[in-house]
Amino acid sequence: MLPFVYPMDNHSVITLFQRMLNHVDTRLVDHGFRVAAHADHMLQELYPDCDPLIRRNLILTALLHDIGANKTDEIDNLLKFETDSSWQHAIYGYLFLLYFSPLKDYADAVLYHHTNASELVNFKLDPLLRDMAQIINIADRADIYLSEGHSWESLHHELQNANRFDQRIADALLKHQIQYPMSEEQLYTQELHVLLTGIPFTQSEVDQYVKMAIYCMDFRSRYTVTHTITTTTISREIAVRMGLSDALVQKIVCGAMLHDLGKIGIPVEILEYDGKLNEAQMTIMRSHVTLTEHILHGLLDDEIIQISLRHHEKLNGSGYPLGLSEKDLTLPQRIVAVADIVSALSGRRSYKKAYAKDTTIALLLSYSQQQLIDVHVVDCMIEHYDDILETAHQHAQELLNIYQMIQDDNYALQLRLASEKEAVL
Ligand SMILES: [Fe+2]
Ligand SMILES: [Fe+2]
Ligand SMILES: [Fe+2]
Repeated sequence: MLPFVYPMDNHSVITLFQRMLNHVDTRLVDHGFRVAAHADHMLQELYPDCDPLIRRNLILTALLHDIGANKTDEIDNLLKFETDSSWQHAIYGYLFLLYFSPLKDYADAVLYHHTNASELVNFKLDPLLRDMAQIINIADRADIYLSEGHSWESLHHELQNANRFDQRIADALLKHQIQYPMSEEQLYTQELHVLLTGIPFTQSEVDQYVKMAIYCMDFRSRYTVTHTITTTTISREIAVRMGLSDALVQKIVCGAMLHDLGKIGIPVEILEYDGKLNEAQMTIMRSHVTLTEHILHGLLDDEIIQISLRHHEKLNGSGYPLGLSEKDLTLPQRIVAVADIVSALSGRRSYKKAYAKDTTIALLLSYSQQQLIDVHVVDCMIEHYDDILETAHQHAQELLNIYQMIQDDNYALQLRLASEKEAVL
């Protein structure tokens, strides 16, 4: 795997997830944070002596509980209070935490966060995680319900369903009522902030979280699974071959990894459209750069952010979103722009097949002749084409293996959970 070192702290990582999840669906803005705020109160009530590190990680798990919900049809389901068919996003969320995050030990709480209390007792689970699954479940249902304008009194009534909700845990929520709609201060209580940032993430934790955020976006479409890793590997290989310093190569790697993060907010139908996008669809597709800017703003070194945001700018000023030209575009930005194109050309997309080496090279030459991309970067790419693509392919294959394992696990878990559910009924 490529070495990544993201210069980010707890606050930037958490803000990145918050902004990203807010772009998935406007109806779920700050939902994860509100669930985390409720969950923290409940946890303090039920486990007052909980170890601070475990508590931080449990609250992060609550914050990220919907990380698997990135397809609209599932979100429609989640927004209904009475929903009982929400396994899919719970399974995906669980697998993401398991494969990519430092929260592996807590992933069960996400897997079972839509499981009825009466069924939960039948699963072999750590008691704390079983409670956490119910804490997230109740906090989540409470947020959906209260956000619709209902009162705490009627929520109290709804929660009096011992089959669905563990009454001991529901009582813990009802003890700490937060006013709705929640104000900024209520959302970011000093206490919650201290909890989430008080114990700094290790560099390895930061890197894992950011990688999870990126793959969560890439995995939305089967055509883009390896796009980011391929673009990043190609960028890195070109940068090293052009003799850039290690520090700059590292910035290029970070910028390339984050370059398409805003695609989290682009509908899957557009990402997977199997033809030429019309003008309106193209405008939506192009907005991914602005979304990336919203997500990354203020969270990283500006040089890294600008590498991410300028990959669709062209030397002759015909690119987007700003129509910048040659004098504004640095070498690292030009490298990522070329790598992004090579990744798209050499890979299969919903609207095209993978192009062979000859076609890709011919197109690169023509783009550089038209003053769209940098001729020196293109020369380096062409000179080392086979080696660079070979390395990119290796990294892509490692990720594809994980993607395939997640698909297989997803299928196996669906079968297992369905049969366990049946056994319970
Ligand atoms: Fe939720
Ligand atoms: Fe892009
Ligand atoms: Fe891209």
